[in-house]
Amino acid sequence: MDQHTDSTGRTESTGAAAPAALLQVNSIEVIYNHIILVLKGVSLTLPQGAIVALLGGNGAGKTTTLRAISNLLQGERGAVTKGSITLRGERIDNLSPADLVHRGVVQVMEGRHCFAHLTIEENLLTGSYTRRDKGEIAANLDKVYTYFPRLKTRRASQAAYTSGGEQQMCAIGRALMANPSVVLLDEPSMGLAPQIVEEVFEIVKDLNVKESVSFLLAEQNTGMALRYADYGYIMESGRVVMDGAAQALASNEDVKEFYLGMGGSQRKSFRETKSYKRRKRWLA
Ligand SMILES: Nc1ncnc2c1ncn2[C@@H]1O[C@H](COP(=O)(O)OP(=O)(O)OP(=O)(O)O)[C@@H](O)[C@H]1O
Ligand SMILES: [Mg+2]
Repeated sequence: MDQHTDSTGRTESTGAAAPAALLQVNSIEVIYNHIILVLKGVSLTLPQGAIVALLGGNGAGKTTTLRAISNLLQGERGAVTKGSITLRGERIDNLSPADLVHRGVVQVMEGRHCFAHLTIEENLLTGSYTRRDKGEIAANLDKVYTYFPRLKTRRASQAAYTSGGEQQMCAIGRALMANPSVVLLDEPSMGLAPQIVEEVFEIVKDLNVKESVSFLLAEQNTGMALRYADYGYIMESGRVVMDGAAQALASNEDVKEFYLGMGGSQRKSFRETKSYKRRKRWLA
């Protein structure tokens, strides 16, 4: 991965897209309802072929960041008011969601959002709405079924009667029907048993390796996300408070204490944990 890092391990903000950056978010601000400032200058890089995790607790701004990229803020009365977003170096922040899908950027929404009354196969086919070639669509459907054999078994079942894991797979499979290069995946682990989460993440990794699909993965399940991601950004209150290679984050003492539940921190936020430790070091 072609990351530009400084001596502290933080990603350097280069302003322009680095050569290997597929997707670049540059210092974006997002405001809801004209007044609520939710993202306060978020920058991140998704290199070509990477899985990048966007971590943080409830309300940190993960979903808002993904929606800013896929231009799905309008329905929420939100808007990007500062900064820019580029795909392969070209500005994409003024494109419609449909144009973004054409360019290969698709979002899998938090909470799965399958059409309950449609079958799994009908759900998958709704993901190919931007495409015309029937042969290609059929080939893509076959490919989705090779990655998600469970969906093939359940192809004729109404989504409402499938399990949570199958619905999550269906939501990802539907995104793949647009033949994307970037998938923005919002909390795939939500409400799923650990074993199913692992199954879903294994498929994501497989798609990443074999189909070169790059993933920006918003997750509260820090441990699981860092096992599969190459790089991670930790968000808190609309800001990135830390970033680094996934392995480095997973072994960082503060991350372990606050996000991986090792160490019994009672403090409310990651930033608070860090400043508490700093104070403790100064006083020692
Ligand atoms: N439509 C909206 N209008 C106003 N405020 C919103 C809206 N959507 C989100 N917010 C606020 O923006 C902040 C970030 O929310 P966001 O959903 O992006 O967080 P998140 O990191 O995805 O959290 P979670 O892990 O709970 O999904 C929160 O304070 C939230 O209350
Ligand atoms: Mg969210």
